[in-house]
Amino acid sequence: MASAYRDTYAAWQKDPQGFWAQAAREIDWIKPPRLIFDANAGVYGRWFPDAVCNTCYNAVDRHALGARANQPAVIYDSPVTGAKRTYTFAELLDEVSTLAAVLRDLGVGKGDRVVVYMPMVPEALFGMLACARIGAVHSVVFGGFAPKELATRIDDATPKLILAASCGLEPGRVIQYKPLLDQAIELSRSKPGAVLMMQRPQAQASMIAGRDHDWAQAVAKAKAAGARAECAPLAATDPLYILYTSGTTGVPKGVVRDNGGHMVALKWSMKNFYDIDPGEVFWAASDLGWAVGHSYIAYAPLLHGCACVVFEGKPVGTPDAGTFWRVVEEHKIAALFTAPTAFRAIKKEDPNAEYLKKYSLKSLRTLFLAGERADPDTVQWAERILGVPVIDHWWQTETGWCIAGNPVGLGALPVKYGSATVPMPGYDVRIVDEACAELPNGTMGSIAIKLPLPPSCLPTLWRQDDRMRESYLAEFPGYYKTSDAGYKDVDGYIYVMGRTDDIINVAGHRLSTGGMEEVLSAHPDVAECAVIGVADALKGEAPLGFIVLKSGVTRARSDIEKDVVALVREKIGPVAAFKTAITVARLPKTRSGKILRGTMKKIADGTEWAMPATVDDPAIFEEIGAALKERGI
Ligand code: COA
Ligand code: AMP
Repeated sequence: MASAYRDTYAAWQKDPQGFWAQAAREIDWIKPPRLIFDANAGVYGRWFPDAVCNTCYNAVDRHALGARANQPAVIYDSPVTGAKRTYTFAELLDEVSTLAAVLRDLGVGKGDRVVVYMPMVPEALFGMLACARIGAVHSVVFGGFAPKELATRIDDATPKLILAASCGLEPGRVIQYKPLLDQAIELSRSKPGAVLMMQRPQAQASMIAGRDHDWAQAVAKAKAAGARAECAPLAATDPLYILYTSGTTGVPKGVVRDNGGHMVALKWSMKNFYDIDPGEVFWAASDLGWAVGHSYIAYAPLLHGCACVVFEGKPVGTPDAGTFWRVVEEHKIAALFTAPTAFRAIKKEDPNAEYLKKYSLKSLRTLFLAGERADPDTVQWAERILGVPVIDHWWQTETGWCIAGNPVGLGALPVKYGSATVPMPGYDVRIVDEACAELPNGTMGSIAIKLPLPPSCLPTLWRQDDRMRESYLAEFPGYYKTSDAGYKDVDGYIYVMGRTDDIINVAGHRLSTGGMEEVLSAHPDVAECAVIGVADALKGEAPLGFIVLKSGVTRARSDIEKDVVALVREKIGPVAAFKTAITVARLPKTRSGKILRGTMKKIADGTEWAMPATVDDPAIFEEIGAALKERGI
């Protein structure tokens, strides 16, 4: 079948507003949009500025009140606890509207922020939807972040309430969340009025009287009283959530998502991109704490009337490298979406895919990969073992859905390994030089997107319009700077090769090396430091730190190196996966004092490198090379 992609993209180019007006018909509006885009509103314009809607209504009520009431909506599968539960749309409505009433009774109203610090349990999803229902703005913080990171987010979002669970479960260990949460609240300037605590059997959280409320008791009481909160009418431009993501400094950026545009783009993507029909099961094996989790564990499948999967486990070790296949077979997954690192982990454990022989994957039509560049080896291995199309697609927390990909729903285009394929309607992607001049095909440059961004993309950063302009819009006037570098080929295929800033991608998790450097330099014995991302066979990239000690320091280098490794874990969290610090006498710099991290990375990766013309002292690179060799890197 010929792909409808080119015609669809051309239709959007010809009439962008007409295109999104058509897509908006898929949403049940309280007041449908008459104005599709207002270029004069917000930082660069706003989508559907006069419409009124509710995201929870579209994700839950309209299915629960219609033909899908008894269809599965949420499938919870937790190999780490052995628990499995399925909620129909009717049951989901019951859970969400009751929890929303609990939130309301705790004083949460429209526009109030609610931080969610929870593992992969369905209650986390209920919490998000309950917020959406009453117009509260959720901000989910990934469980692998340390108290200080949580505190930074609490201070920025100033939540009225925190939804939390007593623990998360990593293979072989229980992570008590409550002490981390208490410490974060202690560290933060803005204290939430209340905490709603879900006690899990694996760990009992101590409760602070007057502030902490027991989740199960509160919900049981509300159910007994028949308390339910209805969907609040919200402006399409009201914020649905804030999701913090790594910026170029240690201070994370609060990406804002609106209600209307978000629903329109996500709903469009389910059929046209992922080729999923309502009633099917869509599994994004990510975490609700990431953008992929927000969009494709939670909102998009539910908006489309699909069942979503809340999976509390890992691709390997819970209990083995066959877990994904078991889940696909058991829940009849039509499409699986994960990060390439998950497949590299499976490939490492089970290179011949022996576990696959135990399961039938006949329900699976497509594997989608995102979160980091899909290396051709991993894509080809996945294609070989699964026998289904493997689709790489490129996106960012900021966009909330795919910028470029291979739209299976419109008809797949030929796969070119190493390319994310083509831009989706809404995205006018350009490869530009520093002066914002477009570069010829095949030439690497900065990837920029012509404004306006399509629906679902961030309208701004939480209460920081100026930072939004400075971070994304100032460098290339009229364009959004993606901070990714890459090139296009003659067929318009996009190759995303890496970041132009200090962000690295560790196991599909986005982290700032600048943030890690802030932690290293705070150590009393460290004079200066540099953190780079080096190639890692499993995680794609792994952080590596170089430290220069203050003169006169007498402690053993190895002790200080251990200190800084522990410090990053304590201040940023285990998710940073910062395992190696190396002491060196000096760092290579330009004559103006800029650390030459790019060349250090090439040396560590063993790739070809040239002596930078601006280097102050070329001999330092030899010292770096020797220090790496000594560590076997
Ligand atoms: N709470 C507390 N700690 C957590 C955590 C959480 N929610 N998630 C991860 N951690 C910890 C891990 O236990 C690990 O700790 P350790 O240093 O003591 O081993 C550390 O953070 C690093 O975690 P991770 O990067 O996930 O490494 P891993 O070795 O545990 O697993 C993979 C590696 C590849 C299996 C895993 O990263 C994975 O499944 N990735 C899938 C892709 C994904 O979810 N991407 C998100 C965007 S799509
Ligand atoms: P996040 O905001 O965590 O989703 O991370 C976004 C970043 O991950 C992007 O800016 C890219 O650097 C990288 N990324 C995500 N998906 C891809 C992909 N398919 N190909 C290449 N890089 C990707």
